[in-house]
Amino acid sequence: MCGIVGYTGGRSAAGVVVDGLRRLEYRGYDSAGVALIDDGELHQVKRAGKLANLESALDEAGLPESRCGIGHTRWATHGVPSDRNAHPHLSNDGRIALIHNGIIENFGQLRGELEADGVRFSSETDTEVAAQLLGREYAADGDLTKAMTRVCARLEGAFTLLAVAADDPHTVVGARRNSPLVVGIGDGEHFLASDVAAFIAHTTEAVELGQDQIVTITPEGIAVRGFDGSPSEGRRYSVDWDISAAEKGGYDTFMRKEINDQPAAVADTLRGRIDEAGQIVLDEVRMSDQDFRDIDKVFIIACGTSYHAGLVTKYAIEHWTRIPCEVELSSEFRYRDPVLDRSTLVVAISQSGETMDTLMALRHAKDQKARVLSISNTVGSTIPRESDAVLYTRAGIEVSVASTKAFLTQLAACYLVGLHLAQIRGIKYADEVGAVLTELVAVPDKIAAVIEHMEPVRKLAREAADFGRVLFIGRHVGYPVALEGALKLKELAYIHAEGFAAGELKHGPISLIEDGTPVIAIVPSPRGRSLLHDKIVSNIQEVKARGAKVIAVCEEGDDIARVHADDVITTPAAPTLLAPLLTAVPLQEFAVELATALGRDIDQPRNLAKSVTVE
Ligand code: M6R
Repeated sequence: MCGIVGYTGGRSAAGVVVDGLRRLEYRGYDSAGVALIDDGELHQVKRAGKLANLESALDEAGLPESRCGIGHTRWATHGVPSDRNAHPHLSNDGRIALIHNGIIENFGQLRGELEADGVRFSSETDTEVAAQLLGREYAADGDLTKAMTRVCARLEGAFTLLAVAADDPHTVVGARRNSPLVVGIGDGEHFLASDVAAFIAHTTEAVELGQDQIVTITPEGIAVRGFDGSPSEGRRYSVDWDISAAEKGGYDTFMRKEINDQPAAVADTLRGRIDEAGQIVLDEVRMSDQDFRDIDKVFIIACGTSYHAGLVTKYAIEHWTRIPCEVELSSEFRYRDPVLDRSTLVVAISQSGETMDTLMALRHAKDQKARVLSISNTVGSTIPRESDAVLYTRAGIEVSVASTKAFLTQLAACYLVGLHLAQIRGIKYADEVGAVLTELVAVPDKIAAVIEHMEPVRKLAREAADFGRVLFIGRHVGYPVALEGALKLKELAYIHAEGFAAGELKHGPISLIEDGTPVIAIVPSPRGRSLLHDKIVSNIQEVKARGAKVIAVCEEGDDIARVHADDVITTPAAPTLLAPLLTAVPLQEFAVELATALGRDIDQPRNLAKSVTVE
């Protein structure tokens, strides 16, 4: 949700912190701010709007060089995006600065208590109560770590906090509950951040903090404690990607770069995932083969694009394993009392591994004794840590808020999970799994071929921009692809875009069609399941008869779709269940191009954040 950075060491703290915020801006861009310590003084600069506004303000401020500081980029929850509500927040004496990612649920009660004590508030945020409480506790003994420990004991909700004190010029203290925080280990310097991307230019050595831990960094070292004050440890690891993964690499936007990353990302996700015995290997497994055999129901929980990956997976899991599979939005799952027990497998899909709706749904599932298998792109994030088994996607960092390569790698990983379940339960023999895998490993080259022929897609997108509305239709796995195409367009272009199960059109949505309405139809392969193909061709005719301008996304050589549609976008042949790995790609480019034609901000669409760590 918000991005946070802390630094102490020999470099310019402003430089390191602002550079880190630039790499975390995908987490929120409503406002940004820094607090820097120099010579016993605390300097704070913060501005509403994007990071560029803060950078100009810092240039104007001409602050003295500092070696220790914190910085924040905000996605607003409590209080409008404004200079006043931007982080950091200061204690009343101006000697303590604090930044926060998450939501402090009991802030109202704490604020009342502090105001009764004479504390003056200068923002509408929940965060300021933590800053004011910390100021009060620090005044008691001048120990920032102990003060933070006492503050955390009072807070309810989700929070990562970082704080600095003017009187402790080389120390940054962090605390973590339900929101991410990693430490970067340097030589004579240390970093704190919500994501390793913030410090990867300086070090690839990291320590991931656990739930309810407090960390104190100085140039010389780090100390980790539990919320009860007892000594503790984080998990040390080396980050296996470098700074180039977080750069645009010559593309105009991160999203275009990430669309182009997809062949390699899918190939990486599939690579080496099968052992000598032909068995699919998960990354972390804390359940036995027998546990997998006992599964009699699968629930997939996820949000947004990850939910669409889950919808595709339902078709694959039920077809390959014959186990009933339901897919549910994480935010709905937890509140409707789903029937779960030890023989239920809950598959949690989350690129970030931090999405609060999915994390809370996962915890609800675990409370009901269900097993949880997670699919995530972020090693060591909270969702995989709390799961019984994990399969990591290997998309590399995804910076653009609109998800592309995360989606395709989630599909690849979900297919592996489906095959794993089928294999372990004896529904599929190794040679059958091998046949699907052969098709799967051929997909990255096909994705590359789709990407090479995007010019016609871009032309169609520019034409559709004038209409200001686009509908998507699909059947079977083409339906979730239609939903995903519509989501991409909504979030990037801010226009009405909606995905429908093509068979549902006649039950209502067809009344939306008027002369010239662009309709993108995801057409299944004409080979094999030709009934499905015939049905969607009928749906194309239905909307055409009412004036729609139909663009068919169909397999190369599908002459029937070509005859009935106004335009076609072709993708290479693939088995029906795997086709979403190809058909989703032109829809991503369509959204980028249409949104570009409307002058939108592609990587940072309005009102959004990459990682949603509030419920
Ligand atoms: O990190 P997650 O996969 O849990 O995120 C879920 C959604 O917030 C995310 O997929 C969102 O819908 C994307 N911005 C869509 O492009």
